[in-house]
This record gives sequence, C-alpha cells and structure tokens, in this order.
Amino acid sequence: MAIKDLDWEHLDFDYRVTDKRYVADFKNGGWGEGVLTDDPMVQINECAGILQYCQEVFEGLKAYRTKDGRIVTFRSDLNAERMIDSAKRMEMPPFPKERFIEAVEEVVKANEDWVPPYGTGATLYLRPYMYATNPVIGVKPATEYQFRLFATPVGPYFKNGIKPITICVSDYDRAAPRGTGFIKAGLNYAMSLHANVTAHSRGFDENMFLDPATRTYVEETGGANFIFITKDGTLVTPKSDSILPSVTRRSVMYVAEHMLGMKVEHRPVRFDELKDFAEAGICGTAAVICPLGKIVSDKETICFPAGMEKMGPVTEKLYKTLTGIQDGEIEAPEGWIHYIK
Ligand code: PLP
Ligand code: COI
Repeated sequence: MAIKDLDWEHLDFDYRVTDKRYVADFKNGGWGEGVLTDDPMVQINECAGILQYCQEVFEGLKAYRTKDGRIVTFRSDLNAERMIDSAKRMEMPPFPKERFIEAVEEVVKANEDWVPPYGTGATLYLRPYMYATNPVIGVKPATEYQFRLFATPVGPYFKNGIKPITICVSDYDRAAPRGTGFIKAGLNYAMSLHANVTAHSRGFDENMFLDPATRTYVEETGGANFIFITKDGTLVTPKSDSILPSVTRRSVMYVAEHMLGMKVEHRPVRFDELKDFAEAGICGTAAVICPLGKIVSDKETICFPAGMEKMGPVTEKLYKTLTGIQDGEIEAPEGWIHYIK
C-alpha cells in the first residue's frame, strides 16, 4: 500500500470516490452494527423521508498527515456532539458519540492511502451524515435512518487558496429566527444555494448573511463563521442563535486567548462596526482560515488594510498556529488531536 499518486498540490475541493465508507442502519428503535463497504451508491425507497421532507443532518471534519508521517484527526468529539444536537433538533435518533469517533477512525484507516502527503495543502475530508430512509407521506419524522461516513481528498475550498476573498452582503436570509441555523442540516444549505449562485454570478466569492430578524448584525457565510480583528489586536467573533457553532471558530478563540495571549470577544457584531476592524476572515473545516479583502453591500464597500494579496498579520498568526496544531508541528491543547496511525 502506498499513498495515491495524485496532483496533491492542485486538488480542488471536489468529491472523489475513495475505497471504503462506513454504513449503519437505525431500525426497530436501535442502531445496528456498522460495516465498511466498497459501494458508494445508495438505494432508497421513492418515498423515503429524506426525499420528501429533507430529514438529514451531516458533519464535516478532516484527517491530516503530520510531518513525522502520522495520521490524525482534529477534535472529532466536537463533531460527534454537534451531530447529536443536529439530530435532536430534526427529530432523528442521535448516532452515539463513541460510535461516531470509531467510524471516523475506521474510515480513515481503510482509506489511509488517500490521506494527502504532509505539506501539500491537501487533506482528507470526512463527511458523516444521516438521513431518513423509510417511506413517509404524512408530515412526520421517519422511523428508519441510515448513518454513513465517506472520505474524499480535498484541496483549498477557494480556488485561490488562502488569498483574500471578496464577499457581498446577501439580499436573502440563510436561516430563520428560532429556526435551524444553529444545526448542520442539509436544508440550511439548500436554502443558501440561490444566494450562492447569485453572489457568484455577480463576481463575489461568498455571501455575508445578516441576522434574519433585523438585518443589523453579522451572521456567517453559507459554510463558515466570521472572525474579525480590532485595531488593537482583539479577536471578535459573532454570536448568534442562528449560526453554526463552528469547531474551527471555537478552536481559534482558544488559540488566540490561551496560546497567543490575545483578548477575545464573542458577541453580537453589528454590520456598521465592520469598517472599523483591522482584519477580517472566515473560518471553518473546509475554509480553514481565509482572509476577507473586501465586503460589498448595497451602500458601501469595505476594504481591509492588508489588501487583496495577503492575509493581515494577526490572521496569519492564527492561521499558522491552527494549521501547525493540525499538522502536528505545534503542540496541541489536551484532547484536540486523535492519532489514527
Ligand atoms: N458555518 C457553516 C454554515 C458551516 O457549514 C460550517 C462548516 O462546517 C461552519 C460554519 C464552520 O464549522 P466548522 O468549523 O465546525 O467546520
Ligand atoms: C465544512 O467546512 O466542513 C462544511 O461542511 C462546509 C461546507 C461548505 C463544505
């Protein structure tokens, strides 16, 4: 067995079929044993709950190859816990935390040759998800579900890697007040697609969604949380009940406070404050930390001082510390890194 021969430095963020995926079924009130399978295809009833009423939740995490040749995952326990929260909100049976962590381990081991080499900028993206499988025609939760977890090697989420991106303030909302914005359910992403295509067709890389109740506060993008740096070096991250509690954002806050000695504020952030920040970025498993160069709204364009070629200095420090921890170059806080090999 040997690492696959791919052009690792130039991988896009795309799906590529790998060798094995994990499958477990929920039936008669309990989760059955999980197995690894070669088959990437799913066959379900035409009336399955996922197809009719969109009962699905998912997660996203990565496996990394370290400098010394080991393979690790990053805070998979938090993804397991968040998937439990998502399932509960969607009236689905939670997949147990320990089994989630074991499934991650099994899939990474079984696809070891697909874990990109250290230093290429590529990683093995893991996508756990579960969905309603039995026929449902009246509006109600299903009684049978499937949990699956596949792996796919990916490069940077944005085609220019970690160069600053330009985003626009969306005319659309991603989540409703008291809705499902704080969980990772496919339906939130379906909601964001029209806004996403509209932003791309106008030449923007992403959307900034505002709070749906007042359109005064900053929420998140379709797939990442925001981070901001004040002129005196404080990290500010938006707090809202309708955004996803990003594992990356929580980790960056910890790194800033406990490893870099920065002041950290997690609070509602008004849109009209943005022009006063020194640096801005987005963070997430797929996006890692990506700097924002420009934010465009109907009324104004906000340009951050670092410009469109490079990250600001504080964002760069956060980026290097986070990726250094994930790559095994910087000692991780207790419990963050799980060795698979
Ligand atoms: N917000 C949304 C809507 C996302 O889809 C993601 C990606 O998972 C994030 C934020 C970032 O979360 P995490 O850092 O846990 O990947
Ligand atoms: C992730 O970062 O894992 C996500 O699920 C975001 C998605 C836009 C790819």
